[in-house]
Amino acid sequence: MRPIKKAVFPVAGLGTRFLPATKALPKEMLTVVDRPVIQLAVDEAREAGIEHFVFVTGRNKGVIEDHFDKQFELEATLRKRGKSAELDMLEQDLPGAGQASFTRQQEPLGLGHAVWCARELVGSEPFALLLPDMVMHARPGCLKQMIDVYNARGGGNVIAVEEVAWDQVNRYGVVAASDWKGNAFTIDAMVEKPPRQHAPSNLIISGRYILQPEIFAEIAKQEPGTGGEIQITDAMIRLMARQNFWGIKYQGTTYDCGDKIGFLSANVAFALERPDLGADFRAALKRILDSHGGL
Ligand code: G1P
Repeated sequence: MRPIKKAVFPVAGLGTRFLPATKALPKEMLTVVDRPVIQLAVDEAREAGIEHFVFVTGRNKGVIEDHFDKQFELEATLRKRGKSAELDMLEQDLPGAGQASFTRQQEPLGLGHAVWCARELVGSEPFALLLPDMVMHARPGCLKQMIDVYNARGGGNVIAVEEVAWDQVNRYGVVAASDWKGNAFTIDAMVEKPPRQHAPSNLIISGRYILQPEIFAEIAKQEPGTGGEIQITDAMIRLMARQNFWGIKYQGTTYDCGDKIGFLSANVAFALERPDLGADFRAALKRILDSHGGL
């Protein structure tokens, strides 16, 4: 069983649901309080022991690469002003030298295709896949919980799932589960964005995966599926014929920050938990709600 040391972050999406904010700004740089959503995904990966971060970017995404680099003028100014807390924070967030790689998805051909673009950088090791739009609020982090399942089950592929209202299932990949042990289970089937009546459960694929490298060969064979795109779910369905897929109903909450309500909710939830903001923000929130007719 090989350890999971690399993580892939698909960040080529156009962010059309957040225009005009995302006209010039990559959607992954939108912030939850003061951390870009891509930084939150990298934080989660690091906590789980990931050592190499592979970003699949696109045009107009250069700022993401800059975000994971030093900012010389800013750091020099902070140093001159004695702002050591800010300097330490920037230092901590930075991947080590050579620990981040960037490659481009040249055309928007779907999530499966974006992952396939990372094949040379991942090589022949199992890897984690994190969709940064899905912000996970969990302790320990979602990927850490998944790696525990990976270790306990002796390898294979692992997918984090979350239970959602039945009227939401058509927006996500959905799994069929059996053989539960605690909050982990065997995945028997998967389907991408099924109509409610064809969904095998209301457990959705919530944007965190541990995949074996054989997935790349399956993606390469893939014809465009739902929405004319090359779906990672279709490639996983094929791989499932030969390899185990485990699911974990992880402990925590997912905020779909590709959606306005999810994004706003994440900001409220994370702000309420911040020791430096929580009390003041709670009071501010109460005032806002009171002046808008209460709840
Ligand atoms: C992708 C996956 C889907 C998953 C979702 C989570 O869909 O294809 O299975 O449930 O991410 O966000 P997308 O959001 O790219 O349409």
